[in-house]
Amino acid sequence: MATLALYPGTFDPVTYGHLDVLERALKVFDEVEVTVAVNASKKTLFSTEDRVGLVQASAADIEGAERVRVTAFEGLLVDHARATGAVALVRGLRQVSDFDYEFRMALANRRLFPELQTVFLMPAEAHTFVAASIVREIHHWGGDVASFVPPVVVEALARLRRP
Ligand code: PNS
Repeated sequence: MATLALYPGTFDPVTYGHLDVLERALKVFDEVEVTVAVNASKKTLFSTEDRVGLVQASAADIEGAERVRVTAFEGLLVDHARATGAVALVRGLRQVSDFDYEFRMALANRRLFPELQTVFLMPAEAHTFVAASIVREIHHWGGDVASFVPPVVVEALARLRRP
């Protein structure tokens, strides 16, 4: 049976770091579903539809793209995992400061769904400091984000500026 992993996140917006983790996940699992959290309580720069669309467009050219699907989910991640038949959750671990939050989330998810494994993958060193929050901040102050995010995201950010 093909193994499916979920790669959940806010992806506001998707970065080269996310894509690096996705490529690594495709080396481990047969299929990877990137699932974008709707998260109504969190104010995002991009709508859910835009975040899904940007992940789709960005992932189209990566190796193994035909084994990727992109969805949105609302509510508890473990409920979505149960509904999809996923065997694992993939999360990127960039540095020690990520660990505390990731560890708590992984243990909470394990308590809720013991059979679901959380797998941490490290992006390339070049991406260890790349975060969507940094991209949003640089964009906010008019800086160049082209080395952090794919061209389709650069264009989407530029469109946000236009009336
Ligand atoms: O990219 P992010 O913001 O670090 O992703 C966090 C995300 C969306 C994966 C996490 O907040 C999440 O799973 N939210 C859904 C609610 C849930 O199931 N939380 C985990 C139990 S604490």
